[in-house]
Amino acid sequence: MSTNEFPYLHGFSEVEQARLVRQAQIAESTIFHDIDYSGARRLLEVGSGVGAQTEILLRRFPELHATCVDLSAAQLGAAAQRLGAMPWLQDRYTLRQADATDLPFEPRSFDAAFLCWVLEHVPSPARVLSEVRRVLSPGSPVYLTEVMNASFLLDPYSPNVWRYWMAFNDFQIDSGGDPFIGAKLGNLLLAGGYRDVATQIKTFHFDNREPARRKTMIAFWEELLLSASDQLLAAGKVSEEIVAGVRREMHQVQNDPNAVFFYSFVQARATVY
Ligand SMILES: C[S@@+](CC[C@H](N)C(=O)[O-])C[C@H]1O[C@@H](n2cnc3c(N)ncnc32)[C@H](O)[C@@H]1O
Repeated sequence: MSTNEFPYLHGFSEVEQARLVRQAQIAESTIFHDIDYSGARRLLEVGSGVGAQTEILLRRFPELHATCVDLSAAQLGAAAQRLGAMPWLQDRYTLRQADATDLPFEPRSFDAAFLCWVLEHVPSPARVLSEVRRVLSPGSPVYLTEVMNASFLLDPYSPNVWRYWMAFNDFQIDSGGDPFIGAKLGNLLLAGGYRDVATQIKTFHFDNREPARRKTMIAFWEELLLSASDQLLAAGKVSEEIVAGVRREMHQVQNDPNAVFFYSFVQARATVY
């Protein structure tokens, strides 16, 4: 399996693929709370990764067929294996390798679209939105869920985590991505000719009110941070000492009885006319 198909912050390892599945599960209730594809039949999912969201989409919306597009053969291979092991999803999805900036579909091929954690990785999100609009029929709803990394806060204060987080965001910008794209979704959609543009800020805020979920989230976040450690070390963005410091501090925060975890992201909804 290729580990270096194109520059990509998180890489394509099996550990990363398992992380994507856990990420989708942890965030499902927050991401899907306001998503409504009633009436849609032909969904386009762009940047579908290992199919972690596809499984949720098809479970929540039994009428949908999903066409899943990803640039990475490794991710698509993992998606084929995962979804193929779920017989109840048979015939309900198609996997296709393609670049989101050049979709291999005719105009009006779909009547809904779903993009999650993908525009943050592409150098030209406007181009992707233009392509998505081209292949949707009028009236189609589009949901975009994207990061807003300036919102992250961890308490107690963890200096290595902060340094690492800045390096993580720098690296994403250097790779042509945008770790702050969530805040820009409204502008991107308006400029792309979408209508009925609405955005919502969604927040993971865990403290002593929900210690179990806080623990799960902090452990997951450590995985998320460290998913980029090989790339950040190779690029000279962080040192081994900082990575070791991140592990130490995340462990301390996880065991702190008063820890706080805070992270907001943005979900946009728009319609194609
Ligand atoms: C963080 S993963 C998210 C996967 C999935 N949406 C989820 O939430 O589990 C981002 C995915 O976007 C894909 N990707 C990155 N650039 C792409 C592009 N230009 N066209 C299509 N897929 C792309 C990556 O290969 C990766 O699978």
